Amino acid sequence: MKIGIFDSGIGGLSVLHEAYHMLPSENYIFYADTAHVPYGLKTPAEIESYADEITRFLINKGVDVIIVACNTATSVAIKELRHHYNLPIVGMEPAVKPAVSFVAGQDKGTTDRVLVMATPVTISEEKLRNLLIKVDDGHIVDLLPMPKLVSFAESEMMDSPEVKAYLSEQFSSIDINRYAAVVLGCTHFNYFKPLYGEFFGEGTRFFDGNHGTIAHVADVLGLKVCGDSDRTIHFNDIEEMHLCGNTVYYASGKEVTDRPMLEHFMRLHNRLEEVEK
Ligand code: DGL
Repeated sequence: MKIGIFDSGIGGLSVLHEAYHMLPSENYIFYADTAHVPYGLKTPAEIESYADEITRFLINKGVDVIIVACNTATSVAIKELRHHYNLPIVGMEPAVKPAVSFVAGQDKGTTDRVLVMATPVTISEEKLRNLLIKVDDGHIVDLLPMPKLVSFAESEMMDSPEVKAYLSEQFSSIDINRYAAVVLGCTHFNYFKPLYGEFFGEGTRFFDGNHGTIAHVADVLGLKVCGDSDRTIHFNDIEEMHLCGNTVYYASGKEVTDRPMLEHFMRLHNRLEEVEK
């Protein structure tokens, strides 16, 4: 099967990387809309039009399924995409449900809440409100927009003092000791996993939507998920990276062939492998 995955940028690599673990025998096209990143600061109409253009592009490449590896584009555009195009389109949703279940199963102490971090668009869209109405009966979920984190990830400023200062500033507005679970509601936020641990308590669990999304794709396509999803996927060179899933990389409609950008993607894959350990 040929699987098309798109995002505004490199956040989608975290979904592709999970797909390598869970569905290693499939072929992949990865599309980063680098000309328009970050989506989280654009208008819904703009995001809808980008998502539509990318969907048409991927359909022309013959994909069997499209993964919208972006919570922001999913929030705004997935309904319309599914309405217009006749192939399975799987989106990302902040993993609020498993986070709420996790907290419900914990001994009640002072850490009894769930924090959802996402882009400003995802936070303000109706899709998240509806999800909260469904799964947050006890009103234990708080929302925190993180407008700058996507740009930090795009500039590969993962462990920089600027990011630490930014996180510290953002977290100063909440009672950080209350959170037993944190939902990473933006695929770009996965790169910063080691940093969050410096702010939250040891017992705090982090939830992203990648595993659930790929499991759903497997279901939709009737594929069996690989039993050995714990194996290490580390690339030593870009040829190795391309061979994995026969992946072709695109940046806003152009195939990525220049070495610096491919090496950038390779470093990011390797970081994703590291941060999940
Ligand atoms: N990776 C996108 C998401 O999951 C980031 C959107 C953006 O470009 O702001 O929301």
